[in-house]
Amino acid sequence: MRVPFIAGNWKMHGSRAFVEQILPALLAIQSSSVEVAVFPPFVFLSQAQTLLAGSEVKLGAQTMDAHDQGAYTGEISGGMLKECGCQYVLIGHSERREYYGETDTVCREKVIAAQKNAIIPILCVGETLQEREAGKTFEVIERQLWAVFRESSIHPSALVLAYEPVWAIGTGKTATPELAQAVHAFIREKLVSWSSSNIAQDMRILYGGSVKPDNAAGLLSQPDIDGALVGGASLVAESFVGICNSIDVD
Ligand code: PGA
Repeated sequence: MRVPFIAGNWKMHGSRAFVEQILPALLAIQSSSVEVAVFPPFVFLSQAQTLLAGSEVKLGAQTMDAHDQGAYTGEISGGMLKECGCQYVLIGHSERREYYGETDTVCREKVIAAQKNAIIPILCVGETLQEREAGKTFEVIERQLWAVFRESSIHPSALVLAYEPVWAIGTGKTATPELAQAVHAFIREKLVSWSSSNIAQDMRILYGGSVKPDNAAGLLSQPDIDGALVGGASLVAESFVGICNSIDVD
């Protein structure tokens, strides 16, 4: 059974005061039917680790470096994230791919490094508007996924996927539940052929892109949508809690 998962990606937002204020508000989510995690900027991870101690809300980072340590100025390793209490890390978010040159190969190396450090990578994939309009959505998603899945050293059972159409991120344009479901079903079909039916059936595939309390239920009720990767709405406690509460527990 796939436990629904709601992940809040704060991106480059927040302050120490913001962390103090929002995290206690999220502790109200104590439902055993949904897993919740927040992804603050690196510098607030330790503070968040302290505030979340003993709670059900988990912690993750927004990226990491593939190396264990060394002369990589400005970078953070999986071991460092682990020490700050991270159980998850986002890999290949479209903003990392677009602004920081993260290629499919870099994403693969980071997925491997995360798993080596016992951190579960959330691999993000998604097409741009141009790619969608050119009818290349499935081709792009398959390429981004295969770059990682073709590597025999990855453990598909310790991986979460997130489908985030780039044109829906931060734009207020959400994919319709049907359109998102079609891509999620395609992803699961590919996973069956690359790993096994059991692994594909157990893998959680989150949807991301302008998820809000008023559209979450429609998306989350789709058979292959197992949760949400939430950006903007994760910065407002009420909205994030609202999205978590829109999971249909039946
Ligand atoms: P958004 O961001 O919810 O603000 O569209 C989602 C994401 O980038 O993960």
